[in-house]
Amino acid sequence: MATLRLGDTAPDFTAVTSEGTLNFYEYLGDSWGILFSHPADFTPVCTTELGTAAKFKDEFDKRNVKMMALSVDGAASHLEWIKDINETQSTEVNFPIVADVERKVSDLYDMIHPNADNTLTVRSVFIIDPDKKIKLTLTYPASTGRNFYELLRVVDSLQLTANHKVATPANWKNGEKVVVSPAIPTEEAKNIFTKGVEEVKPYLRLTPDPTA
Ligand code: BEZ
Repeated sequence: MATLRLGDTAPDFTAVTSEGTLNFYEYLGDSWGILFSHPADFTPVCTTELGTAAKFKDEFDKRNVKMMALSVDGAASHLEWIKDINETQSTEVNFPIVADVERKVSDLYDMIHPNADNTLTVRSVFIIDPDKKIKLTLTYPASTGRNFYELLRVVDSLQLTANHKVATPANWKNGEKVVVSPAIPTEEAKNIFTKGVEEVKPYLRLTPDPTA
């Protein structure tokens, strides 16, 4: 198992999930994907995360992103836990959760960090583009629930920068000014970004979101 890095191809797998046996690539199709791991079923932070993910599904759908979660418990356990998630988080879990009892997917994606916990997965996130390339990796400890607004924000940035020669500054949110790619000279940038280019420094040029 090698560490997965940005730009690597996301490994494919077939696994038992809460929605039956699924092949990851077939499940994703031409969509973007988010694969995220949880330490264990029937744990409090994970319960809130999965409920939150379910509530964010419409937003991920709008961005053509499919979610798949994972924990190292079995499918029967997942189904019982999903009932609790639905009840306590007032939602319906609407994406599959891999039942990674044999740790196959966890190993493939290096989601077990033995110095943190020998058996349970940490909170990993992989954002995968339609070419199956890994575009973001993120690792949180078991004790810290993830911020799903941040995941949406990164997807917005990735999808914008995939199609336009821009990057997004600190704390950027959809619709705000973006940074002109450093590879483009300012004079050329002025032709490309017809909404205007503000040159703060020769290497720091801002322009309105080209899609807004
Ligand atoms: C939780 O999801 O609440 C959790 C799981 C493992 C360790 C600590 C918290």
